Amino acid sequence: MARLLRRSRDHGGVTAIILGRMGSGKTTFMLSYLALPLMETGEKLLWRGGPFCQWGYLQLSRVKLLLDEALGPYRWIDRRRGKPCDPEKLGLEVVYPDFESPRDVIWELTPGKLCVAYTGDEAFMDLMEAVNSRSDIDWVSIFHDEVQKLAPSNVEGDMWRRNKRLADIIAETRKNYVSFYCAAQDYADVDYRVFRKMMYRVYLQDARPPRSSLVYRWVPHRLELGEAIIEGSTFAKATFQPLKRQLHLVVKYEG
Ligand SMILES: Nc1ncnc2c1ncn2[C@@H]1O[C@H](COP(=O)(O)OP(=O)(O)OP(=O)(O)O)[C@@H](O)[C@H]1O
Ligand SMILES: [Mg+2]
Repeated sequence: MARLLRRSRDHGGVTAIILGRMGSGKTTFMLSYLALPLMETGEKLLWRGGPFCQWGYLQLSRVKLLLDEALGPYRWIDRRRGKPCDPEKLGLEVVYPDFESPRDVIWELTPGKLCVAYTGDEAFMDLMEAVNSRSDIDWVSIFHDEVQKLAPSNVEGDMWRRNKRLADIIAETRKNYVSFYCAAQDYADVDYRVFRKMMYRVYLQDARPPRSSLVYRWVPHRLELGEAIIEGSTFAKATFQPLKRQLHLVVKYEG
């Protein structure tokens, strides 16, 4: 079993960040190398929803949308035809849990489905905190693509404190049997406290390994699309498969 997917009750969950240039396959890696195999094991999967509906790479029967009314109204648009559409009519499961009560949202995490939560940054962090303190020990994985949007580097004041809070929440995931996987183009775009909580770093094409890495800086430039280097205490090469987009949606909502 691949290291990022290994689950041990002694060790707990895994944290990892996927790094690579634009179009290097970060989102695909998270979905095809991580989320799909974890669905097979019946793990609960929480994915942070975004405007570009990256979950559209999966079959619709594999996706459940958890929409926060507070973000709405949602306008779903088929970006190839430029026409509005309705995810429920497309056959997607859609629920509107009360995000002010994150414990209720956790009930909506259906094993074997990618549960995509559309909510604000603070509410998503509240939800992560609630997952940490849930009353069972089922395995849960949390995914955040483009994590520099949630935890940008070089910020001050409230944002600095928010990043600190996020780093503290991530620190609590492992022993609560929660895994956290995120992606960014460059590690320097992500708050250093959040980055330092990552047990594994995954380098895709043209990723820039940090100074402390065992991976030589030129190595990611030699990777093909679909190849990855996974670094923990040691490093190893892996390959991941492309996915076919099933849906070409964008969604507009109040940020
Ligand atoms: N293993 C692979 N083999 C071939 N093509 C792939 C593979 N993985 C991804 N691709 C293709 O590369 C393109 C970019 O993939 P993806 O959106 O996952 O990259 P990304 O790093 O998330 O990009 P961005 O920085 O824009 O978010 C897509 O068209 C995808 O189908
Ligand atoms: Mg992406």
